Amino acid sequence: MRNISLIFKQFSRAVLLVAGFAAMGYTAQAQGDATKGEALFKANCTACHKIDVRMTGPALGPTITSETDDKWLTKWIQNNQALIAAKDPKALKIYNEYNQAGMNVFTNLSDGDVANIIAYVREDWKKMQAAPAPGAATGAAAEDSGPSNMVIFGLIGVIVIAFIVILVLNKVIGTLEKLLIKKENLPVEEEEEEEAVKVDRLATVKKIAKNKKLVFFIILCGSLAMGSWAWVTMWNTNVHQGYQPEQPIKYSHELHAGVMKINCQYCHGGAYKSKNASIPSLNVCMNCHKVVKTESPEIHKIYDALGYDPATQKYDSTKAKPIQWVRIHNLPDFAYFNHSQHTKVGGIECQRCHGPIQTMKQVYQYSPLTMKWCIQCHKRTNVNGKGNAYYENLISIHDRIKKGDKITEAEMGGTECGKCHY
Ligand code: HEC
Ligand code: HEC
Ligand code: HEC
Ligand code: HEC
Ligand code: HEC
Ligand code: HEC
Repeated sequence: MRNISLIFKQFSRAVLLVAGFAAMGYTAQAQGDATKGEALFKANCTACHKIDVRMTGPALGPTITSETDDKWLTKWIQNNQALIAAKDPKALKIYNEYNQAGMNVFTNLSDGDVANIIAYVREDWKKMQAAPAPGAATGAAAEDSGPSNMVIFGLIGVIVIAFIVILVLNKVIGTLEKLLIKKENLPVEEEEEEEAVKVDRLATVKKIAKNKKLVFFIILCGSLAMGSWAWVTMWNTNVHQGYQPEQPIKYSHELHAGVMKINCQYCHGGAYKSKNASIPSLNVCMNCHKVVKTESPEIHKIYDALGYDPATQKYDSTKAKPIQWVRIHNLPDFAYFNHSQHTKVGGIECQRCHGPIQTMKQVYQYSPLTMKWCIQCHKRTNVNGKGNAYYENLISIHDRIKKGDKITEAEMGGTECGKCHY
């Protein structure tokens, strides 16, 4: 019995150590005063940065939140020029990515000031993601990502509680044993036994195997882990959130929709008019690329696809070989989703469903596109009926039905193409 107590002592020491490190790691990220940080951020950074969208510099919410090395971040914010001069690879990459726009030096900010700014940015970004305000262009988070954190935390909670219960029981047994030994006036065996345990590993394993409580605990942990893994896997079957295939032409939304601010409608006009948003034909690209970047091999892919010869400026349709864009968003055929119903009628911005497209070099699927995702938004989003012909029609029909008038299906919208056609 004493051996069991010893094994547990060692085991719990290890667990405490790991927990301690985890807690330290957590506080290292979370320290800093967000209220002070907000004032500093507004005074120093808003000229070039916003939390959620790109301005002269990157959108700081996602970049600062995903950066794990706070020491590097502090160095960058205090003196990015020094990092660039020292040819720090990460700094050079960012610098070149932003066309060497150059950020100010803030040597006046102490480490504490910077920690406050970082805390503010992370907190604010978290808030924006938690509460997707209608109208927030990019702060809206994907509203559902399968199994909730609650379930996972619940499982961890159960494991921790089981462990504590076993620990307490074991303490009680240990105390009782000591009492027993004292009562019988037996010599108390002390730490030598610990040595013995270390020497004979095989014996330890055998003892563990004989300890029913410990074996039960290990099996419990194992089955809970397996169970939660199976749960997560099943939830995510056929969910392609994050899917980001390589496209045949390195077309960048960050450049065209972000930096150049070309309206989504210019290329995806269907998104406001019909069920499908549609991918633009390459002729739309030619409005500019007949003259822009004509030397680029990427642009020559457009020319080849259209059978266009830049030398003669003539099209030869026999040489055309259409570009096969890789489709990213794809609902199963049995689900009917209509873009215009959501964008034009519902007034929902593309970014609420597609994420910050205008910052994507390569498009990825931002939302899970699960049924739960559709339904959750329908439950939470208020319909705006004011000044909307459809709802005004509905109200007038409602009044006429009350009066006892006869109503035809056509008046209910039964001649709209979309009611019968996909
Ligand atoms: C004069 C404009 C300007 C100001 C003011 C400015 N920045 Fe920047 N910042 C930039 C630019 C531009 C970049 C992109 C890198 C480059 O070109 O040097 C950048 C990059 C960054 C990055 C790196 C992002 C990444 O991708 O990892 C961080 C972090 C950052 N800025 C934080 C801040 C903070 C915090 C402040 C306020 C104390 C601030 N910046 C003030 C222009 C500015
Ligand atoms: C200059 C034309 C152009 C503009 C402007 C543009 N796009 Fe695109 N978009 C494309 C092309 C071409 C593709 C297909 C290649 C790709 O996925 O990058 C595409 C793909 C997409 C996709 C993925 C389609 C799929 O396969 O599921 C989404 C979503 C999207 N665009 C949304 C937007 C939004 C939102 C905006 C406005 C912020 C926008 N686009 C602006 C040309 C454009
Ligand atoms: C409104 C004008 C306009 C339209 C429309 C447009 N582009 Fe562009 N595109 C530009 C400009 C400007 C650049 C940047 C040139 C530069 O870097 O100096 C560019 C750059 C590019 C590049 C990068 C070329 C390189 O080698 O750096 C690619 C690839 C590209 N566009 C593809 C497309 C495709 C595909 C379409 C159609 C879906 C399209 N563009 C539509 C104006 C346009
Ligand atoms: C309410 C959520 C929602 C909004 C808002 C939304 N989309 Fe979509 N989008 C989707 C879904 C869902 C799909 C997949 C449709 C399918 O597979 O039938 C999709 C598909 C697409 C595609 C792929 C081609 C297609 O038509 O299926 C493009 C491009 C696109 N969206 C662009 C846009 C643009 C541009 C806007 C803003 C004008 C926009 N979307 C607004 C949910 C949305
Ligand atoms: C960002 C929020 C949001 C998401 C996500 C969303 N919807 Fe909607 N949906 C709306 C709103 C708002 C309306 C009401 C538009 C209106 O008529 O004013 C609506 C209306 C509809 C309607 C018409 C309902 C009716 O009573 O006529 C259908 C059908 C629909 N959505 C299907 C879908 C499907 C399928 C998905 C998932 C692929 C989806 N929606 C995802 C917000 C959303
Ligand atoms: C009440 C249901 C309904 C409405 C509303 C409706 N259609 Fe149809 N449509 C049908 C049916 C059923 C067919 C197939 C029988 C046929 O070809 O006559 C059809 C066939 C068609 C066809 C022929 C397709 C083919 O392959 O031969 C076209 C084109 C068409 N509809 C367009 C429209 C347009 C455009 C609208 C809106 C102005 C519309 N429809 C509204 C029910 C409807």
